[in-house]
Amino acid sequence: MDAPPSTIPTLRLAADADGLARAAALIGAGHLVAVPTETVYGLGADATDPEAVAAIYAAKGRPRFNPLIAHVATIEAAQAEGVFDAFAKKLAAAFWPGPLTLVVPAAPGGSVCDLARAGLDSVALRVPAHATARALLERVGRPVAAPSANRSGRVSPTSVDHVLTDLGGRIAAVLDGGECPVGVESSVVACLGGLPRLLRPGGVTREALTEVLGFAPEAAGDPGSRPVGPGLLASHYAPRAGVRLDATRIEPGEAVLLLGAFRPAGLEHAATVESLSESGDPAEAATRLFGALRRLDASGAPTIAVVPVPEEGLGEAINDRLRRAAAPR
Ligand code: TXA
Ligand code: MG
Repeated sequence: MDAPPSTIPTLRLAADADGLARAAALIGAGHLVAVPTETVYGLGADATDPEAVAAIYAAKGRPRFNPLIAHVATIEAAQAEGVFDAFAKKLAAAFWPGPLTLVVPAAPGGSVCDLARAGLDSVALRVPAHATARALLERVGRPVAAPSANRSGRVSPTSVDHVLTDLGGRIAAVLDGGECPVGVESSVVACLGGLPRLLRPGGVTREALTEVLGFAPEAAGDPGSRPVGPGLLASHYAPRAGVRLDATRIEPGEAVLLLGAFRPAGLEHAATVESLSESGDPAEAATRLFGALRRLDASGAPTIAVVPVPEEGLGEAINDRLRRAAAPR
């Protein structure tokens, strides 16, 4: 991908009244600001402004066929941008504000620009729960397009330092909201007529979606279902090191990602070890996942070996990200 033409000093703004006012003014003027959400940091810009949205794609090196999520402050604002069927209404009522993104038909009078939707007739909407994100969205007063604030294909950022490592010098500012509490991206559910489909597992578990719907959402790849999200590339979230899953034996010099009490054979030969959660708690593991992958990658080990991760709860989202990190590039 092409690098943007210039290097700019990236402001680090506190999440106070002054910082929020400056961040909102920058976004209003068409600039890029990284914003904390409960899932990961997003790279925000005015979703109604095609030039600002083009700058997101350029800063990330993101292919333009991959549409962005438009973030809004309220359910009412979301319903002005998209057409909600009964399933979408039910899911929004249950999980917004929160780590759920709904893909719905774009509303005729909606303001999210074509480029943010990658030219599709659908729109991805989310009302985030993070207090700083909500305060910013209220001040901006327009939908804010925000993909994860990482270079395209890299691990998503859960701290300001992660954002600056990837995008420092390429964006106007980052709002400092500390560490993201959920740690993996939102669940993406499409409600486009027919039954809801889970396009990407994430911060709202399949179990929680099933409980609210009264049935399990279709999987993106189910036979008869329509094409999956254009951004759901197999290789994604890629560290520099190779990633080896379901490791029960460690090769000398590997970096190791542990979960719970399980200890793979040969662990004593590991170059470095990180634990996602000593107790095996999937929520704690999700919070730590991207930071741990970044640290293990920075160790310089050729391979990151990951012990088996149970598929329950947030384990599904964790395994999804790990499989993409391990996919051939
Ligand atoms: O938690 C999150 O979702 C974070 C925070 C910042 O909100 N955002 C995020 O954005 O992860 P991004 O761009 O990295 O992932 C958005 C996903 C992509 O896989 C994209 O292809 C999909 O949502 N998506 C967006 N619009 C879509 C549409 N109209 N149809 C199908 N998939 C869509
Ligand atoms: Mg992303």
